[in-house]
Amino acid sequence: MTSRPLTLVDLRGMKSRGERISCLTAYDASLARLVDEAGAELVLVGDSLGMVVQGHETTIPVTLDEMVYHSRCAARSLKRAVLIADLPFMAYATPGQALQSAARLMKEGGAQVVKLEGGAPQLETVQALGRQGIPVCAHLGLTPQSVHKLGGYRVQGRAPEAAEAMLKDAVALEQAGADLLILECIPSELAERITRALAIPVIGIGAGPACDGQVLVSYDLLGFTARPPKFARNYAAEHGAPDRALKAFVDEVRGGIFPRPENGFT
Ligand code: KIV
Repeated sequence: MTSRPLTLVDLRGMKSRGERISCLTAYDASLARLVDEAGAELVLVGDSLGMVVQGHETTIPVTLDEMVYHSRCAARSLKRAVLIADLPFMAYATPGQALQSAARLMKEGGAQVVKLEGGAPQLETVQALGRQGIPVCAHLGLTPQSVHKLGGYRVQGRAPEAAEAMLKDAVALEQAGADLLILECIPSELAERITRALAIPVIGIGAGPACDGQVLVSYDLLGFTARPPKFARNYAAEHGAPDRALKAFVDEVRGGIFPRPENGFT
């Protein structure tokens, strides 16, 4: 395991060698340091902070200023992991707005990759970001910024037409220049098809064991969350101190032990 700062090229190499990639959320310097030291390849400053840090019901109220602030806090601690920061709701409604918002996350927040939610409607934006040398992590499946449109936090892609549309979106996002893809709350079989179809690393959350990597909200893993989702696992309950719990997650992802089939959906 290399100790130098990782790059997206390293992550692609991991996918091609069949090595599992681990990703955890962090919103501040202390947690980001622990996640980095645990050996996770990716740290995500997710807009889930709106729920687990700020106490909102959804991620929708999170502002770009808040994402820049939390990204800057996390960035200060990282020595090895690649830092992804979420573009929050309505900060990328047009390609032009996405460029401005991404520039802030990178210049002020220290992000190396920006994440955005959605498929076909985001293709032009992904291309525009790529043309300016801005790496993009796309996010399909349960896209929390669209929770009201989706009618709640529910598994996506179960109907055959929805599954085909998601596969098509994933391929189109890769062709548009996306560097990573997160799949959230989709049937494990669909996640496997998408992972096989793409050359870019695919990171799952509630998407079964076949993705190239796994992400969890660290607060779920550390037992801070009152109602953790079904696909999460409380590593602190089993391993105690945060550093040991985070390392156990990274080791289990690397060893193909987490997630198990029961952490996914049919
Ligand atoms: O905001 C976030 O933490 C996320 C993960 C759940 C993938 O998008």
